[in-house]
Amino acid sequence: MNIILLGPPGAGKGTQAELIEKNRKMVQLSTGAMLRAAVAAGTEIGKQADAIMKSGGLVSDEIVIGIINDRIDEPDCQNGFILDGFPRTLPQAAALDDLLKKKGKSLDKVIEIKVNDEALVDRISGRFSCAKCGAGYHDTHKPTQKPGVCDKCGATEFSRRADDNAETVKSRLMAYYRETAPLIGYYFAKDKLQSVDGMAQIDDVTRQISEALG
Ligand code: AP5
Repeated sequence: MNIILLGPPGAGKGTQAELIEKNRKMVQLSTGAMLRAAVAAGTEIGKQADAIMKSGGLVSDEIVIGIINDRIDEPDCQNGFILDGFPRTLPQAAALDDLLKKKGKSLDKVIEIKVNDEALVDRISGRFSCAKCGAGYHDTHKPTQKPGVCDKCGATEFSRRADDNAETVKSRLMAYYRETAPLIGYYFAKDKLQSVDGMAQIDDVTRQISEALG
């Protein structure tokens, strides 16, 4: 099964993608994580993306379409993938349709995670992740079970994203409403869209998604 998780910054796409990956034989494809890795590695793509990401804008369609086109061909994607943060514009959605068709693959479902704007700032400002394995946490909504120790790998170093600040969150939200929200209508018209209540507890959102995927 190949799916998209759609929603504004902080809606819980990454959190739910990690859980779906664990519960089903599917791989999480986060364009945000891939771009952050490119920035950290200092690649040409990373150099182009760095300032745009820090400002809360969108990296060019050409770059992210190229990344996804290559990544989908890798062996671990053959059992199914979860697109987290892609597509984010109508041209990216059209390019995804084309590349899936060319590769003989299809899109099964698009899950929209609906969250109130006010909750997004709180979620983003409290977010942190394990510096070693990348597992995601939140200061109050999803703390580590043992303080200061990653539940997943036992590491004790954590980091916060450079774009997780109140100023940038507003730009990211504006980019979402301007460029990404139209995809809700795009996938509704294709009969692929199912919406879940992202204001619910993390476990309950997982349950809703699981029901939607069948
Ligand atoms: P990206 O990394 O995709 O960031 P984003 O879309 O802004 O989404 P986030 O990762 O901030 O949020 P999320 O929905 O995954 O929430 P999470 O699960 O972490 O993109 C970053 C940047 O890269 C973009 O701004 C852009 O510049 C660039 N980019 C990436 N893809 C691109 C593309 N396709 N085209 C162009 N540019 C692109 O949850 C947030 C917090 O809330 C966590 O702490 C979590 O524990 C907590 N939480 C989650 N669910 C709940 C819940 N139900 N209740 C309470 N707390 C919860």
